[in-house]
Amino acid sequence: MRRQRDETPERGDTVLRVEGLRVEFNDAAHTHAVDGLDLTVGRGEIVALVGESGSGKSVTARSVMGLLPSEARITAGSIVLEGQEVVGLSPRRMNRMRGSQVAMLFQQPKAMLDPTATVRDQVAEPLWLHRGLTRRQARTRVAALLKDVGIPEPERRAAGYAHQLSGGMAQRVMIAAALSGEPGLLIADEPTTALDVTVQAQILRLLRHKQREAGLSVLLITHDLGIVASIADRVAVMYAGRIVEDGTTTDIFARPQHPYTQALMRASLLHSDHGSLYSIPGSAAQSRALDHGCRFRPRCSVAEGLGIAKSCEDSEPTLHACGAGHRSRCWAPVREEASA
Ligand SMILES: Nc1ncnc2c1ncn2[C@@H]1O[C@H](COP(=O)(O)OP(=O)(O)O)[C@@H](O)[C@H]1O
Ligand code: SF4
Ligand SMILES: [Mg+2]
Repeated sequence: MRRQRDETPERGDTVLRVEGLRVEFNDAAHTHAVDGLDLTVGRGEIVALVGESGSGKSVTARSVMGLLPSEARITAGSIVLEGQEVVGLSPRRMNRMRGSQVAMLFQQPKAMLDPTATVRDQVAEPLWLHRGLTRRQARTRVAALLKDVGIPEPERRAAGYAHQLSGGMAQRVMIAAALSGEPGLLIADEPTTALDVTVQAQILRLLRHKQREAGLSVLLITHDLGIVASIADRVAVMYAGRIVEDGTTTDIFARPQHPYTQALMRASLLHSDHGSLYSIPGSAAQSRALDHGCRFRPRCSVAEGLGIAKSCEDSEPTLHACGAGHRSRCWAPVREEASA
């Protein structure tokens, strides 16, 4: 049964639970790309992870997949996937989790497909690896999977190569490959950014159909709030490596609490009176350098006016409840109406 929009997942109904995750890069600054992140995805729900470029969304996704680059490492926290702790899991066991429990879609589907292998072989790989199908069984299953994701003439397409596909068709092939191992969770990192608007809408409809039909859970990474509003059940807003607000999509859009969420919403609206796009003044780099207080304070436009600047400077707010299933990491009093 599909989750009601105003529910948050209970422990037993959770596909992914990330707690206190820290990921450090081995660069001169020892950048903490992800810095104390808490995130939950319930069974059968679509959770959107949003935030500016560089906030740590892709590093979060790669941590869950066990696909961090060699110069990055998890220094703290826990990632529980289908009840299994994956931090510290051996590469062999993590490989088994990928495809069978969790799969990922990327922004550039054509770049992710192997140009030397047929579409059939790429979609069939998880079927051999995780489901033990014979070649003949896999061939039949691949045709069914391609048909299922809306690819016309699936047998002919299956014999073709990635360069023969359009961007939209390539992303459909990636979805077929991702779903072939019947994972409970799909992580989609900006899966439609490289596609034109019509194809984007088709791919999002396909994901929503899979969520409803198969009870698939989706962690959807996007910077596009229009996409969030159209498809997500819940939203987690990420800033400088941490979640600063999360809640149902309805609540986040109707009553955004954190000044960063409010600024993101303003930035996503074209100001018709000026014809210009609002951008959030300052950069997250200023925030990452702070070692105390609220990390958003160099860019916050409300702290002074509310007379709470001293608290904001002295100590960092926790991610605390500001409504049912709604949390914000901010000292400002709860606002009932949107100010964005
Ligand atoms: N290869 C790298 N070396 C050093 N730092 C990196 C590297 N990749 C990412 N980072 C750091 O991690 C942060 C988050 O990156 P990323 O997760 O890709 O952001 P997003 O997906 O939200 O745009 C970046 O701001 C950067 O500081
Ligand atoms: S805690 Fe203070 S500085 Fe931080 S976002 Fe809230 S009001 Fe702004
Ligand atoms: Mg990214």
